[in-house]
Amino acid sequence: MTSAKARKAVYPGTFDPITNGHLDIIQRALKIFDEIIVLIVDNKNKKALFTLSERADLIKECCKGMNVKVETFTGLLADYMKKQNTNIVVRGLRAVSDFEYEFQMAVTNSKLNPEMETIFLMTDKRYFYLSSSIVKEIGLSGGCVKTMVPDAVEKALKKKT
Ligand code: COA
Repeated sequence: MTSAKARKAVYPGTFDPITNGHLDIIQRALKIFDEIIVLIVDNKNKKALFTLSERADLIKECCKGMNVKVETFTGLLADYMKKQNTNIVVRGLRAVSDFEYEFQMAVTNSKLNPEMETIFLMTDKRYFYLSSSIVKEIGLSGGCVKTMVPDAVEKALKKKT
């Protein structure tokens, strides 16, 4: 692999909304790669609370000052990667339960696009329990999500109640 390819990596997900767990993965991935493209994938299997552009604005706000580009995408991740000058996907692994699904995705993606490699970062122990759904459930029911999401997301969730 050329060094040009290793300079950036794609971090795909639904990000509805971004949480401190995602942010931790982005910050740690930036220790390995010069640039991270946070790719918001329009996942038709999930009913979203935030629109794609709301999610993109929140990520931009939370990643201010970091070498992060935010893009939205509908379609196959393997096809998106072919169009980019990169072949690295970053994913966070939370618990053993994530492994099977992530393994299946990584193998399928490399079948669709043999150039693709997925690297996994272990989710920080503070965020092992976290998911966007849990954040939405607590936030929309008036609970406190301060330790789970950046301030901008907390405010945006309040507006949705
Ligand atoms: N900390 C806290 N929570 C985390 C986390 C972390 N580090 N990493 C993931 N999560 C949570 C997310 O908030 C999300 O919660 P939710 O289910 O309540 O929304 C959950 O874990 C799943 O994470 P996410 O990264 O959003 O994955 P996903 O399963 O929604 O989407 C895609 C995965 C978008 C990468 C995948 O569906 C995809 O590539 N789609 C494109 C179509 C395609 O190519 N399909 C073939 C794939 S083989």
